[in-house]
Amino acid sequence: MKIRTLVASLMVIGAAAGANVALAADEPISPIQPPKSINIGMAELGKKLYFDPRLSNSGIMSCNSCHNLSMGGTDNIQTSVGDKWQQGPINSPTVLNSSLNVAQFWDGRAADLKAQAGGPIANPGEMAFSHTLAIGVLESIPQYVREFKNVFGKDKMDIDQVTLAIAEFEKTLVTPNSRFDQWLLGKKDALTADELAGYKLFKDSGCVACHNGEAVGGNSFQKMGVVEPYKTAATADGRAAVTGKDADRFNFKVPTLRNVEMTYPYFHDGAANTLTEAVDTMGRIQLGKKFTKDENAKVVAFLKTLTGDQPQFLMPILPPSSDKTPRPNPFGKK
Ligand code: HEC
Ligand code: HEC
Repeated sequence: MKIRTLVASLMVIGAAAGANVALAADEPISPIQPPKSINIGMAELGKKLYFDPRLSNSGIMSCNSCHNLSMGGTDNIQTSVGDKWQQGPINSPTVLNSSLNVAQFWDGRAADLKAQAGGPIANPGEMAFSHTLAIGVLESIPQYVREFKNVFGKDKMDIDQVTLAIAEFEKTLVTPNSRFDQWLLGKKDALTADELAGYKLFKDSGCVACHNGEAVGGNSFQKMGVVEPYKTAATADGRAAVTGKDADRFNFKVPTLRNVEMTYPYFHDGAANTLTEAVDTMGRIQLGKKFTKDENAKVVAFLKTLTGDQPQFLMPILPPSSDKTPRPNPFGKK
């Protein structure tokens, strides 16, 4: 009897799960999956490197300075501040769910996270260091030497290992379990009537043509300003900088809308301060649609349901420098 009840209830669960899968599959957005096959040791090392400001010329700037994991993986300023308080040319995108991107950077010039991670360390406008200097610092810190050897099994460390480890850590930075994903998976009461109405507007107006899939974006390059040109003081050319084709001018990687409530300001030039403004601009220049105040509020309400569980981990404690570690150069006097 007991077994029968169990079988019956398992069948109910099975049927419900089947229905959920069907429901999710009909939607243009799919739930975020947990990361697959993470090398824990490598990710732990990558986490330290992600937070280590000794990979910068000033000794105060880490990946987390511009991609703050307490603030949705961004810096929440229009364009980033680099070494010696330089004004960056472009808005810092979130690192959350960046493993789902078709390529990295607004113009997609890095193929993947590993290829991306070497960039900022040596970029004079960002961390303003060099790969050789970075390896020199890491090699002078005995605990790092041991940890690199444990993870990679080699006697010598190199920049490839550094970028591999950072990329492995970044793969863990996915944000499943948003209220929207709960709804996709069958929890009918996860969204309010207004949020659902906002999702319907998002679909019916055509936003999903570009913002779809697991990351609600991140999977294609599209023109900024399809119906109306986008006016900006920023000079970025978009995808054309990579392909050299005029047709790609002002094509940018469609940003993910996951956690978009946290990743303000918006657009590659960081010109839109609020979601209300960003939704209004998108409607007008991408689709030729002017949302009413009420419609706009509903789309914004929907977008806020895309905030997922933020990465949870212990603060990494960084191994101390040794007497041999080159000292940082915060004021550019050397
Ligand atoms: C000074 C600020 C700054 C620092 C420091 C910095 N970044 Fe970035 N990051 C940016 C900006 C700005 C962009 C966008 C540049 C572009 O697209 O041209 C970016 C882009 C990215 C992207 C691509 C995301 C996407 O959606 O395309 C990733 C991933 C990333 N950074 C990771 C890192 C890692 C890892 C480090 C440390 C090694 C780091 N960043 C250090 C500002 C910074
Ligand atoms: C033709 C493709 C396309 C369509 C349709 C489209 N978008 Fe976008 N969306 C983009 C691109 C490309 C960007 C980045 C442009 C830039 O920064 O220059 C973007 C950026 C955004 C951003 C800012 C995200 C960030 O992190 O900076 C939001 C919010 C957004 N879109 C919402 C919407 C909404 C809502 C709709 C429907 C009204 C919509 N989009 C329709 C391509 C599209």
